[in-house]
Amino acid sequence: LYPDPDFDLNKFNECVAERRAVLDHQNKDIAEALDLLREYWSLCHQTVTDERRALAFARAAAAVKCLPFKVTNPRQLKGIKDLGDGHALRVATQIVESGHSQEVEEKRNDKKFLSFQIFCKVFGVGPSIAKKWYAMGLRTAEDVKKRFDQLDVSKDNMISYGMAFYDDLNRPLQLVEAENTYKHITALAQRILPSVVTSMIGGFRRGKSSGHDLDVLFSYPEREHNEHGLIAAVREELDKKGLVVWSRYSRADGPRGVEIDSSPLPAGSAKDHLLVIMIILKYPLDGHFDQLERRDFSTEKNLGLFQLADSARPWRAIRVDLVGSTTAQYPYAQIGWTGNKQYNRCLRQYAKDAFNYSLSSTGLYDKRQHRWLPAQTERDVFDHLKLSYREPWERNF
Ligand code: GTP
Ligand code: MN
Ligand code: MN
Repeated sequence: LYPDPDFDLNKFNECVAERRAVLDHQNKDIAEALDLLREYWSLCHQTVTDERRALAFARAAAAVKCLPFKVTNPRQLKGIKDLGDGHALRVATQIVESGHSQEVEEKRNDKKFLSFQIFCKVFGVGPSIAKKWYAMGLRTAEDVKKRFDQLDVSKDNMISYGMAFYDDLNRPLQLVEAENTYKHITALAQRILPSVVTSMIGGFRRGKSSGHDLDVLFSYPEREHNEHGLIAAVREELDKKGLVVWSRYSRADGPRGVEIDSSPLPAGSAKDHLLVIMIILKYPLDGHFDQLERRDFSTEKNLGLFQLADSARPWRAIRVDLVGSTTAQYPYAQIGWTGNKQYNRCLRQYAKDAFNYSLSSTGLYDKRQHRWLPAQTERDVFDHLKLSYREPWERNF
């Protein structure tokens, strides 16, 4: 039945977290169809059932990406856990049989879906805002621009920037551009804290040649972190050089956290170059947080729009995420921020089901023994979970 004689369906089904998915997998047409349905339901969902449907399609698409052979016969799809025996299997079968699925093509061209896609491409906009805009009769990016002042989001800094830099931010960032920016940021951080360890994470670490942003992870000892806030210092240096277009910094020390927006308003506005700083106490001060949450809060990160030199004009805006972690959290932060998102979902679910562990990008917590499991490398984390190590490029679920 399978072209790969070593393929063992039982083993494939036994543990989803043991599967590997490379970018260049063998069932792109099926995965594309299932991912489109996932996107459709995650953007256009109305009910909890629709959200569940999105997750089911995400799992189904991931399963297909993990198959070590090209599916040529619908019988090869039978019995695959996560593909189920209903909707996803039906769509996958249609693609194998005819290369075409009526349902997928209808959804792909669905007017409402197309509008939701356009809206969600605005930095700062998710399905709930898209839904509001659609209900107000907006359909295109032009509509949003024209009626922006009437939208109650017009004071939301992030979305204003999302609109002002819509084209820039939807132009894919190429690997070489990401690498150059990464080197620049690393050099700057090393001047502030010579012992800092940085790595490029996110999609580029998984082997993608372009992406929607650059993700950089910083690691430094806890005491440096508490005294300084290295990410804040790096952000400030970039700002001094005039390279920050917009940024949102957040840090949490125990139950208390701060969030700071620091940004000149978009070019062309009367308040050009005005620095807006908002400080919000995000979390209450009475410490009724359990240990897990407390640890989750002890990180700093900065979502930003930075300037990137451009050949055609002085600069264009790109998305950069800077994430800080203590040395103890580093391997967990690496896994969590390398992704992809579906791979993390799967790992976290597995950790919970198999060991009653809670896995996050700040650590692995044993809920039975009430203790954190220490790790120095990503391999240690896989060992704790009794999983074979997976390279970053095998985590493209
Ligand atoms: P592209 O950027 O589109 O190329 O893909 P990507 O996989 O790099 O996506 P993204 O930059 O959005 O996220 C990278 C990883 O960080 C993913 O695994 C996300 O799940 C994770 N991530 C994103 N936002 C957060 C967050 O707020 N908290 C945590 N813990 N993880 C996050
Ligand atoms: Mn990314
Ligand atoms: Mn990111």
